[in-house]
Amino acid sequence: MTTLTREFILSNLMGPNAAILVSDLCEGWLPERSRRVCDLGCGNGLTSMWLGDHVARTVFAVDLWNEAEENQARFDSHGYAGRIEAVHADALALPFEPSSLDALVSVDSYNFFGREEGVIDRVAASVRPGSPILISVPGLVRPLDDDMMKVFSASWTREQMDYIWTRDQWAELLGRSSSVRIDDISEQGCFEEAWSDWLSCDNEYARGDRAAFAAGAGELMNLLAIRLTRIA
Ligand SMILES: C[S@@+](CC[C@H](N)C(=O)[O-])C[C@H]1O[C@@H](n2cnc3c(N)ncnc32)[C@H](O)[C@@H]1O
Repeated sequence: MTTLTREFILSNLMGPNAAILVSDLCEGWLPERSRRVCDLGCGNGLTSMWLGDHVARTVFAVDLWNEAEENQARFDSHGYAGRIEAVHADALALPFEPSSLDALVSVDSYNFFGREEGVIDRVAASVRPGSPILISVPGLVRPLDDDMMKVFSASWTREQMDYIWTRDQWAELLGRSSSVRIDDISEQGCFEEAWSDWLSCDNEYARGDRAAFAAGAGELMNLLAIRLTRIA
C-alpha cells in the first residue's frame, strides 16, 4: 500500500479505490528496475504516487480530462516534485519517443479509450519490447443483457455500460494484436474492498453509483487485471 493517508486517498478517488487496484495489479508484475513508467489515465494521480513510492524513478502521469497543472501541483505538494511529471495527453497520441518507457500502467481508464482494434498497438509503441503493460478495468461476469441492465439502470445508462466488458471480450480484442502477448487476464480479488471505499465517499458520482449496487450490481461485475508484454 501507499504511504499516503487514507483520508487523502478517499478524497481523491474517481471510482473503485485506485490505490488498492494499482497495488494488486502491479505487485509481482512490475520489475523494480522500471525507471520510466507511464501511468495512463491517471485521473487525480493516486496511482502515479503509488508508482512513485514503489518502483519508478520517473512516473509520467498522463490524463485527458484532468488539467496537468492541477495534477502537478498535487504531486509537488506531496513531495513528488521531480519524480512525477503530469502530462496532458490523449492515450491515442502519447507524446513519448517510441520504445522509451520501461512500463505502462493504466487503472480504471483503458476501457474508456481502448475498446477499438489498434489502440493497444499505438499505446504499446511507447514501451520497450519485452516491457510490461498492466491494465485494470471494471468488468462484467457475463455479456451484458437486458436482465442485467435492469440492475445497472438504477445508476447507469446502456451507453455507459457499453464501456464495461467481460474477460473474454478483452481477451478476444487484445489477442488480435501482434504487438503484445497476453500474460494474464484475471479477476482481481480486491473487488469488495475497492468498491466499498468508493461507495462510501461523499461525492455525487459515488452517491449515484450506490443504487446499482443496492440493486445487485456487485454480483454482476468484477475487476479485471490485464497483464501484457510488448513483443514487437
Ligand atoms: C474513472 S477515471 C479514473 C482515474 C484514475 N485512474 C483512478 O482510478 O482514479 C478515468 C480517467 O480516464 C481518463 N481518460 C479517458 N479517456 C482518456 C484518453 N483518451 N486519454 C487519456 N486519458 C483518458 C480520464 O481523463 C479520467 O481521469
